[in-house]
Amino acid sequence: MKILQVFSLISTLLATSQVPDLHIPNQIHLHRPDLHIYNQIHFLRPLSGSHGHDIPGVSCSSWRLAVETNNIIGWTIVPEECVNYVGHYMLGQHYRNDSKVVTDAALDHAKSMNLTGDGKDIWVFDVDETTLSNLPYYASNGFGSTPYNSTAFNAWVLEGKAPALPESLKLYKSLLSLGIKVVFLTGRPEDQRNVTVANLKEVGYHTWEKLILKNSTYYSGSTAVVYKSKERKKLEENGYRIIGNIGDQWSDLLGTNTGNRTFKLPDPMYYIS
Ligand SMILES: *[C@@H]1O[C@H](CO)[C@@H](O)[C@H](O)[C@H]1NC(C)=O
Ligand SMILES: *[C@@H]1O[C@H](CO)[C@@H](O)[C@H](O)[C@H]1NC(C)=O
Ligand SMILES: *[C@@H]1O[C@H](CO)[C@@H](O)[C@H](O)[C@H]1NC(C)=O
Ligand SMILES: *[C@@H]1O[C@H](CO)[C@@H](O)[C@H](O)[C@H]1NC(C)=O
Ligand SMILES: *[C@@H]1O[C@H](CO)[C@@H](O)[C@H](O)[C@H]1NC(C)=O
Ligand SMILES: *[C@@H]1O[C@H](CO)[C@@H](O)[C@H](O)[C@H]1NC(C)=O
Ligand SMILES: [Mg+2]
Repeated sequence: MKILQVFSLISTLLATSQVPDLHIPNQIHLHRPDLHIYNQIHFLRPLSGSHGHDIPGVSCSSWRLAVETNNIIGWTIVPEECVNYVGHYMLGQHYRNDSKVVTDAALDHAKSMNLTGDGKDIWVFDVDETTLSNLPYYASNGFGSTPYNSTAFNAWVLEGKAPALPESLKLYKSLLSLGIKVVFLTGRPEDQRNVTVANLKEVGYHTWEKLILKNSTYYSGSTAVVYKSKERKKLEENGYRIIGNIGDQWSDLLGTNTGNRTFKLPDPMYYIS
């Protein structure tokens, strides 16, 4: 269905394009190599479609891909023209479907590993936008269109009302049933421990090996990459084997002691280094 829609979009563009000096066919015959060149003209000019009008969605999906692949880094807000796109992406089925592809792959990986059963096989979960979802907060705060506001965000966290990301909760339960223990490793500060524990339990995360929150004194000024790498190193020094590691930020997954495999959940709303 999706592919048909894309093909029909391209075919409409080809049929109505006003690009001069080109023979524009009415139909696409994909077996004809010369016509692939006509298609490319639109890929090279993603913002201008028929009669020079913008093609809705094209540039924002490219932006999102670049963000998810860690090609665009260090951004503070979602580009204004993509805020609406991000909102629809997050609230619609697309985000959920993308998350499911990631957690399904994660479970396949876990099943492929030879587990020892000695209680030292662990899976590292990030918390925000991985285990818990702050979508209710972001939906009423512009989907990342304004810079991070710690006052407002911490007030939301302290309500303890974040729902589970359903795909992650399912993965969590499957991993437990395989005999893998779970470690939550979050950038939330130590003083949010109690509310985080209560929130996790409330939405279905009933057990874990460790919940590691950030010691803001010790890690003052450290990036998430440094903090999380050091904490994972400590885990390995204590004999744990990190079978897998899942998070919505590349800073959850880069650095050292990253585990046997890493899994990146979508997050086009904010960036943490
Ligand atoms: C999400 O997945 C369902 C089931 O596979 C599919 O029917 C639907 O079209 C998908 N939606 C999006 C936006 O990806
Ligand atoms: C698990 O063990 C089997 C049998 O020893 C071996 O063939 C396989 O490659 C191992 N898989 C991994 C992921 O280590
Ligand atoms: C941050 O959020 C607080 C609480 O909602 C609000 O009072 C404050 O104005 C916000 N700061 C900025 C810079 O928007
Ligand atoms: C957190 O919970 C523990 C154990 O229930 C309690 O002793 C402690 O006072 C609580 N801390 C805060 C900051 O509420
Ligand atoms: C945090 O780190 C500081 C400085 O290293 C240390 O004194 C303190 O005990 C730590 N706090 C916790 C809760 O681990
Ligand atoms: C998993 O990671 C550990 C530690 O890096 C490594 O020793 C082990 O060979 C890895 N296992 C697989 C199957 O890749
Ligand atoms: Mg996160």
